[in-house]
Amino acid sequence: MVILDGKKISNDIKNEIALEVKSMTAKGNRPPHLAAIIVGNDGASLTYVGSKVRACERVGFDSSLISLSESINENELLDKVNQLNNDDNIDGYIVQLPLPKHIDSQKILMSVDPEKDVDGFHPTNFGRMALNLPTFISATPYGIMELLKRYDVQTEGKHTVVIGRSDIVGKPISLLMGLKTNPGNSTVTMVHSRTKNIKDLIKQADIIISALGIPNFVKEDMVKDGVVVIDVGITRVKDNSEKGYKIIGDVDYENVSKKASFITPVPGGVGPMTIAMLLKNTLQSYKG
Ligand code: GUN
Repeated sequence: MVILDGKKISNDIKNEIALEVKSMTAKGNRPPHLAAIIVGNDGASLTYVGSKVRACERVGFDSSLISLSESINENELLDKVNQLNNDDNIDGYIVQLPLPKHIDSQKILMSVDPEKDVDGFHPTNFGRMALNLPTFISATPYGIMELLKRYDVQTEGKHTVVIGRSDIVGKPISLLMGLKTNPGNSTVTMVHSRTKNIKDLIKQADIIISALGIPNFVKEDMVKDGVVVIDVGITRVKDNSEKGYKIIGDVDYENVSKKASFITPVPGGVGPMTIAMLLKNTLQSYKG
């Protein structure tokens, strides 16, 4: 069994990016600049955005964190988005999700300039991804593809079962795994809350990609021997630690890992990859 070490690979990627930034700034160019808009005080969102800003420092990017009050209205937020669209010093930016309920997230995401949409959430970029055209691929699915690539996991002709159909993970990774690419070229089944015989389908998988958000949903008896397991779940479960919680994946790692050929740990698997890929997208935007 091989552990797909997202922490290590994301560090490799950050080092590669830092080297590129160093050589560009040595020539007198400004560094790439990533901005993040965060609305409100959601604990998990603040943690994620904080990690993204720290990662920028680490690779030599400039970063701007725009923190807005929970009570901001949709038009004020749209104004902010337009400001970033028109700021030539910003190569890419993200609007951290989820947004407060009184704001129409789709409307906001649609108003992000696709050329600065380093999250890859704009329909233009999602469509380009589906057609295998150059684009910004969303950080989490992009990170999964990069992990599979760097560990040379064979995906061609394999049966990939994606658990979950979210816009930011399940849907895009299902498309990517079915593209005529490597990694890719697999036969994809997407299962979700309305799927009948979900356990039978998961048991047929050569590759399981779980983005469900139910701790320890995938059990040893639901997988076949030699399965490749990508666990995208990051559910906070209260405990007695100093932080007050721990992060639990969708997969019962201790038992499922005994049957797996490759598996991602939680934490330290897909999570760190997402930040590295966001930086990669920002670098790509900078280079034009
Ligand atoms: N919320 C959870 N994941 C993400 C992400 O990848 N990007 C943004 N903007 N918000 C998120």
